[in-house]
Amino acid sequence: MQTIGDKYLLGTGRSDHDRLRVISEIHDGRTRELLLRAGLASEHRFVEFGCGLGYVTRWAASLGANATGIDLNEDNLAVAAQLAQEVGLKNARFVSANIYESGLEPESVDVAYSRWLMVHLNKPVEAMRAIHAALKPGGVMVCEEADVSAVYTEPSSAAYTELRDICMEGARNRGVDYSGGRRIHLWAKEADFELVHGDAYHPHYLTGKHKGFWNWTLHAVGLGMVREGSLSGARLEELVAGMAEADASPTTLVAHCRMHQLIARKPESKA
Ligand SMILES: C[S@@+](CC[C@H](N)C(=O)[O-])C[C@H]1O[C@@H](n2cnc3c(N)ncnc32)[C@H](O)[C@@H]1O
Repeated sequence: MQTIGDKYLLGTGRSDHDRLRVISEIHDGRTRELLLRAGLASEHRFVEFGCGLGYVTRWAASLGANATGIDLNEDNLAVAAQLAQEVGLKNARFVSANIYESGLEPESVDVAYSRWLMVHLNKPVEAMRAIHAALKPGGVMVCEEADVSAVYTEPSSAAYTELRDICMEGARNRGVDYSGGRRIHLWAKEADFELVHGDAYHPHYLTGKHKGFWNWTLHAVGLGMVREGSLSGARLEELVAGMAEADASPTTLVAHCRMHQLIARKPESKA
């Protein structure tokens, strides 16, 4: 089945791999807490959808879970498998598939996880329905998704505000929702899950190597829009330079996206 309209705009190649590594550095601690709260255990079959370089899949495998990472991007999957091999993990495997038709056996998964995936999809509720089908009755879906509208700086940087809004608008025009994190509980309800737990956290930086992460990310999205013809390259570079000024200022606080977290359960079968 074709995923009509779905278009993943962030690029591939080394720099995108570097970005995925930084996402892992910023978010994996919270992700691990959330998965443990959801009950992830060594006897479980764990599947991560949109696994990228597979950091979370390998961590689940290191706990003893039978772990599978699924992604569309072969380049990411090759690195994910290589990293698993380097540390001798035999219970982590990586599979090329689309979340909408993953090929997973129905009712075979205990814990399904995704991060930074639903906001890139045109049909997040359909994707959650596919996860629902793969879960065992009583199995859990754990989801972490962004609200990009929460990116801001104090004092306010016009460049940050403008590029954030251009990227949000570009996403809307492609039929995806970069503020979708705040709606994951509603999408899950529509996909017939029982809601178990919802929360959010919001990283802020005055200093440090992660302060400029959103400059980097909005630049990457903006380059996709330049390739599409919906943004001029010159305007993008001006905005990125303005954002770099804000990043360099030790008195400017930079807020990343707010990350929303959800644990939802597939109801037990009715007897
Ligand atoms: C922003 S990255 C996040 C990667 C990882 N979850 C993380 O947090 O580091 C999104 C990933 O989803 C994958 N992806 C996008 N659309 C997909 C789809 N329809 N099915 C499976 N994977 C998809 C991309 O290839 C990419 O690796």
